[in-house]
Amino acid sequence: MRLDMTPLRIAVAGLGTVGSATLRLLKQNAELVATRTGGRPVAVVAVSARDRNKARDCPLEGLAWVEDPRQMALLPDVDVVVELIGGADGMAKDVCEAALRHGKHVVTANKALLARHGAALAAEAEKQDRRLMFEAAAAAGIPIIKTLRESLAGNRMRVVQGILNGTCNYILTRMGEANLDFAVALREAQERGYAEADPAMDVDGYDTAHKLAVLAALAFGTKPDFDSVTVEGIRRITPVDLLYAAELKFRIKLLGVARLTDHGLEQRVGPCLVPVGTPLSKIDDVLNAVLVQGDAVGDVTLSGRGAGGGPTSSAVVADLVDLARGYAGLPFAVPVASLSATRTTPADRRESGWYIRLDVKDQPGVVADITAILRDEAISIESLLQRGRSPMNAVPVIITTHRVDEAAMRRAMEKIGKLESVRDEPCWLRIENA
Ligand SMILES: NC(=O)c1ccc[n+]([C@@H]2O[C@H](COP(=O)([O-])OP(=O)(O)OC[C@H]3O[C@@H](n4cnc5c(N)ncnc54)[C@H](OP(=O)(O)O)[C@@H]3O)[C@@H](O)[C@H]2O)c1
Repeated sequence: MRLDMTPLRIAVAGLGTVGSATLRLLKQNAELVATRTGGRPVAVVAVSARDRNKARDCPLEGLAWVEDPRQMALLPDVDVVVELIGGADGMAKDVCEAALRHGKHVVTANKALLARHGAALAAEAEKQDRRLMFEAAAAAGIPIIKTLRESLAGNRMRVVQGILNGTCNYILTRMGEANLDFAVALREAQERGYAEADPAMDVDGYDTAHKLAVLAALAFGTKPDFDSVTVEGIRRITPVDLLYAAELKFRIKLLGVARLTDHGLEQRVGPCLVPVGTPLSKIDDVLNAVLVQGDAVGDVTLSGRGAGGGPTSSAVVADLVDLARGYAGLPFAVPVASLSATRTTPADRRESGWYIRLDVKDQPGVVADITAILRDEAISIESLLQRGRSPMNAVPVIITTHRVDEAAMRRAMEKIGKLESVRDEPCWLRIENA
């Protein structure tokens, strides 16, 4: 194959954490990158951000400044627009759409955009015979997009599940190891630069859900469908739950899980108990990991840094190297017309084992009332722990169950929550065995 040796000319829209790290990496490893592309240089020619006068920690000498990044689509000396602005709609979407429409390739790290508009953007890329690349959009430095799209292409996938948000993983790790409340661990994460001033996107699970929607599309050949993902964050987790989970030989992790069931595709984000010793249970602090299960390969787990300038720019540059080599394939591996709509597994068909924590009055008959409700919903108990004696105060009852569907659990929890002897809302969490 004859390689094109003219430089691959790129315009970078967004010079924040990822944009500036991408410029630094391209400069720092310019020679190496050119070697890996078979001698074809990757040359930045233009940049854009909101504020031209902001001091930036990246090389900008000799680069054209574009006031409005949508105009990058019209620059004749640009082959690729790299969108590193962020956000599902607005400027980021306009920049990508304009670039594709005007015949540029697009590289983006924007999971929110892809989760919502990935199919439409991929269709435009196909129509224009251009490439849409997004290795950085899920788990940043972990090469999971390429792994699903290429390396595991021979497998029928069963499950994709992952710890996809470093902020939540850091908070849960600290809550467990230092017995901290959620709010205290969140403040610590913010002080260390691991959480935003407004942490909602991370701690309420939406960031994980965006990434899951993209991964599920690649794994199961569906259109990315953010609205089909059930999302719950980690705000209701208490240090007590982490403690009891540990006693039962589990860790609590915020997981994104996409699983093909007989009843459709299950896509959900929420805090789950994972058995100690399994790969995901060992991923702590800000690290991310993704576990995929294919029919031929079995389990594959990839772990690493899922955020930050370095890891994210590593993925952006990998996409640029592929474009320079002329390797890049279709965004979701198959033509958009072959991607199916999601048939979502209904909640009453979503099965798992469950962990239940109840704060109950220490009086005779309480446990019998609770177990009667579980029996009536055909929920089978695997273990039951009752701690301490305190006639004046509530005592915790911890139950784990065998597999049962979510609808039965919901009904049981509603009934149990109404018992006079049960204080506070029951806490119930999934037990996830891949
Ligand atoms: N940070 C990570 O660790 C990470 C990891 C994986 C993926 N990502 C994704 O990468 C993308 C960028 O994230 P980031 O953390 O680098 O964001 P960031 O630090 O907030 O940077 C955003 C950049 O976009 C520019 N910008 C914002 N609105 C603009 C507009 N209307 N016109 C032109 N420029 C505009 C900003 O300009 P100013 O600098 O002038 O304000 C800034 O340079 C997002 O899609 C994010 O989800 C980030």
